[in-house]
Amino acid sequence: MVAPASGLLSWLWRDHLRQRWGALLAALGLMAVEGATAGLLSWLIRPMFDQVFLGEDRGAVVYVALAVAGVFVARALAGFGHRVILARQAERISAGLQRQMLAHVMTLDLAFFQINPPGALIERVRGDTATLRGLWGPILSALGRDVVALLSLLGVALWIDWLWTLIAIVGVPILILPLARLQNRVRQTAASARESAALLATRLDEVFHGITTIKLTGSEAHESARYDRAQAGYLRAQFRSESSAAAIPALIDLVAAAGFAGVMLYGGLQIMDGTKTLGEFMSFFVAMALVFEPLRRLGSVGGAWAQARASLERMRAVLDQQTSLANPARPAPIPPAQSLTLQDVHFAYADAAVLQGASFTAEAGQTTALVGPSGAGKSTVFHLLTRMADPGRGRITLGGTDLRDLDLALLRRQFSVVAQDTALFDEPIATNVRMGAQSATDVDLQRALADANAGFVATLPQGADTPAGPRGSALSGGQRQRIAIARALLRNAPILLLDEATSALDAASEHLVAEALARLGQGRTTIVIAHRLSTVRQADKIVVMDGGRVVDQGTHDQLLARGGLYADLYRMQFKE
Ligand SMILES: Nc1ncnc2c1ncn2[C@@H]1O[C@H](COP(=O)(O)OP(=O)(O)O)[C@@H](O)[C@H]1O
Ligand SMILES: [Mg+2]
Repeated sequence: MVAPASGLLSWLWRDHLRQRWGALLAALGLMAVEGATAGLLSWLIRPMFDQVFLGEDRGAVVYVALAVAGVFVARALAGFGHRVILARQAERISAGLQRQMLAHVMTLDLAFFQINPPGALIERVRGDTATLRGLWGPILSALGRDVVALLSLLGVALWIDWLWTLIAIVGVPILILPLARLQNRVRQTAASARESAALLATRLDEVFHGITTIKLTGSEAHESARYDRAQAGYLRAQFRSESSAAAIPALIDLVAAAGFAGVMLYGGLQIMDGTKTLGEFMSFFVAMALVFEPLRRLGSVGGAWAQARASLERMRAVLDQQTSLANPARPAPIPPAQSLTLQDVHFAYADAAVLQGASFTAEAGQTTALVGPSGAGKSTVFHLLTRMADPGRGRITLGGTDLRDLDLALLRRQFSVVAQDTALFDEPIATNVRMGAQSATDVDLQRALADANAGFVATLPQGADTPAGPRGSALSGGQRQRIAIARALLRNAPILLLDEATSALDAASEHLVAEALARLGQGRTTIVIAHRLSTVRQADKIVVMDGGRVVDQGTHDQLLARGGLYADLYRMQFKE
């Protein structure tokens, strides 16, 4: 799964860097100026010694002083400039990556979300891009500034004495192999640190969403211990990654030590012999001392890049995931008669078979009820009808056309769904109800709320403008369900799917809402899942499911007369 670095770079360039080339080029230019000041400074040391200190040239002292000051001013301005530009660009690049990730993740299948829990995805979208944000600066400035500094300093050193230069840097090539090894290690450990960070985020997500359950069951210590274990893994990996990265500049210092000692020995003897001036030696010495600084930084860039690459690879892995729900190139038109048929449908979550050859038809304009014990696969049928996933075998048709031949967005537009766990968002209730029906008028909105028996909305402090709270947490279960029903009513789509739509309501509200839903269902293809069999008696057809199969179907009276599973379920409830 290791993407080649060139692939990562071309993706970054194409999607995130190319449109900022102007700003990046300006930053690189300023970095080059800052880098060149190092060479200039070491070059000025020679006249400082040979003309000012030793030559006692009073004219030269002024120009050398001014030149040194000028170099520092240039460095200050260039350094400030590129840091400001980069800080801004780094934020924007990370923001762009986040946008790209989010947009892509939303296209993926439910199967992807089962493998990748919310916490882990949050860590990918936010954590991995944040890691990168901290690495752009060092990487780019090393490339812009340190490469130029290195070249200019080496130029000065070579200009003074190529043999000295050679002695000083002869050890550098020895580093290539260990540096490559270290980089690899940094990348691997950084990847496992990011992996652990995702696990930490998942744990936190679970704890905060399950906080009431944790308190009620006294599981605080258990959860803390789980978190500690995850954290220990993260700390270990992160520490390994950081210490491997820190070893890179340390290695370069070791080579520097050998180089300096060599030049000191050889050059020192030459000065004593009078073949070289003190100014030349000092200039060279400063140049070499300064050379190792950018060299070390370029070395840490190797580490930073290896860490960045771990994050980039994780992002790329998500972006490379494709939904298996292909949209047909030339979609068939949506059929006018909206009957729904399952033909020998098989479906499995990972390896767990859920539907094992389910077949039935929900006739156009009629109400079909799905009943059966919990776990029979009823909700899964709704998932497949709305193409959250495709069946493994068999087919599902709408008006005789395979769902896979229809445009996905158009297909989903045919459904109003009240699911078992319809999501609300931390936006005004009105906005929540309008999801999927943006063009509805206020009058329609009020009617939908009234039909859903959601009169409570009017009594809230800001009425329909009251925020629903994150994941609808400001509302009770029954209130959330009524908002979800209002949403489905307002959407007013040709097919109505109701999955335990009134299960959280009290008997009185249920009666009212059931009436509104019955009114809405009139003339529409409706499929209802309900545990309370009293609510499905009126259905045109009742489909009985068990263990992923349709075991019986017919009207209430037919099924009771036949005395199968339905009759058993009905009698059990009737006794209650
Ligand atoms: N996300 C999932 N991952 C794995 N198995 C699942 C998942 N969702 C449901 N199942 C399994 O599929 C079966 C049918 O689930 P479902 O369709 O929700 O049943 P019903 O709505 O009839 O109660 C259950 O046995 C359940 O364990
Ligand atoms: Mg269900």
